[in-house]
Amino acid sequence: MKIDVFFTPVGLNPSDLAGRTVVVLDVLRATTTITVALAGGAKAVLPAASTEEALRIAQNLERDDVLLAGERRAVRIPGFALGNSPQEFASEAVRGKTIVMTTTNGTQALIAAQGAREVVVGAAVNFALVVQRARAALEQHSDLVMLCAGRERQFALEDAFAAGRLTKVLLPEGGLRRVEVNDGALASLEIARHFGERWLRALRASAHGRELAELGFREDVKACAEENTHPVLPLYADRRITAHRPPNEG
Ligand code: MLT
Repeated sequence: MKIDVFFTPVGLNPSDLAGRTVVVLDVLRATTTITVALAGGAKAVLPAASTEEALRIAQNLERDDVLLAGERRAVRIPGFALGNSPQEFASEAVRGKTIVMTTTNGTQALIAAQGAREVVVGAAVNFALVVQRARAALEQHSDLVMLCAGRERQFALEDAFAAGRLTKVLLPEGGLRRVEVNDGALASLEIARHFGERWLRALRASAHGRELAELGFREDVKACAEENTHPVLPLYADRRITAHRPPNEG
């Protein structure tokens, strides 16, 4: 059993992910926003690497069903219907829609995770379901990767904290003696130990959290720090993120 934490997708090799379950974390804000969108009834979210790619993907979809979303420097891309604020993705805006989305770091990390056995979209807002899915993967002997989106190819505190929270909760009885972890996982555990369960404190302490507050997105930081407000498990496969429904829910 192995748990690895990578603080950015930079330098990832396909062998780091092959055959493994990967939880992608961009708590501020892309993976939170995607979860909120699916909880609000969006049909799917299609991550795109660039504005141009988003436009190209959207062109091939039924115009009435599609919404373009995304940010650069945290602000909505001109001409796009939505930015990357979870507050914009309420049910009235997204129900039944396919959202083509491009963000600075989050959608890049998702795209980098393709090729894994399973790609789970993780955030505080769906934390319990992510834990459940990750635990099931470990029980089925799938090694686990927490892939942090990071910020502009560098370390981001909020994602490292989220990875540490997850790693801590997932450690089996017997702790680190029973599971192999990389140095990233050890460091993330230290960060989680520092902040405890205080998501908001960790998010507010991060450079990205501070920048969002300065840009007027203080409420977003708060919304992104709330645990289990949107109990949906988004899975990314075949270039689409959709809400996983357990078989008995149809
Ligand atoms: C990203 O993907 O870089 C972010 O989610 C940035 C943001 O809009 O806060």
